[in-house]
Amino acid sequence: MALEQRPVAKLDRAVIFLGPPGSGKGTQAQVLATKFGVPHLSTGDMLREHIAKETPLGLKAKPLMERGELVPDSLVLRMVSDRIERPDCSNGFVFDGFPRTVTQAKYLGELLRRQGFQQPFVIHMVIGNALLIRRITGRRTCKVGGEIYNIYDRPPKVAGICDNDGGELIQRPDDREEVITQRLHAYHKMTAPLVSYYRALGFLHEIDASKRVPEVEQEIEQAVAEMGEAR
Ligand code: AP5
Repeated sequence: MALEQRPVAKLDRAVIFLGPPGSGKGTQAQVLATKFGVPHLSTGDMLREHIAKETPLGLKAKPLMERGELVPDSLVLRMVSDRIERPDCSNGFVFDGFPRTVTQAKYLGELLRRQGFQQPFVIHMVIGNALLIRRITGRRTCKVGGEIYNIYDRPPKVAGICDNDGGELIQRPDDREEVITQRLHAYHKMTAPLVSYYRALGFLHEIDASKRVPEVEQEIEQAVAEMGEAR
């Protein structure tokens, strides 16, 4: 039975998508959050919104993101803790791109404990480097609703236009090949250690992210259903 048909009223925890740039975190986090009716919290999207609005945080983040470097923990942590205190997060939420350092993971663990949430469920998107470049350079995102496409593997019906809302599809400035190398470097140096961190805590579930979107979606659906049964 598909997840949306089940009487799953609450997620009641944080689901974390962990994986390199282009592994499909955003694509799958969006789907899962919609299924459970909880917020999809992409720290990348939040930071891009700050940049668009030219807030003090956005002005600090912009040059770092353009170079493919991480934004300092202190700035990201304040942004995230403000966001998950909002009432729409009371039934759980899906993180995409957070935490990204061990410091962020430890802080999140403490925050979740204080707010009375269960332990997080971490989905590790496992994929080799070769596929990532094609996925990232082919990505186009709707300027209006944020829907994610790929000109090679997941094209819109009409080039440059979102199927859902007719919004313009744009390419992210950090999706240029020279920045991608730096983003992958930052991932392997700063974020990959989270795999062993969460594995040691027993929260990690590995997914083969090299498969097609519907197959990955199905694997995640099954993993989350098993998590629900194990409660
Ligand atoms: P962020 O926006 O989080 O980017 P990222 O982690 O680099 O990940 P991406 O968005 O590139 O990829 P994704 O895994 O979401 O893949 P997607 O689903 O889009 O971060 C950007 C920057 O913000 C960072 O570099 C950093 O500077 C800063 N930042 C953000 N969070 C931070 C934090 N916590 N701390 C510090 N700094 C932070 O898919 C990619 C493409 O592939 C799409 O075109 C999609 O259609 C396609 N695709 C997806 N799945 C499949 C599939 N199974 N088969 C074929 N194609 C697929």
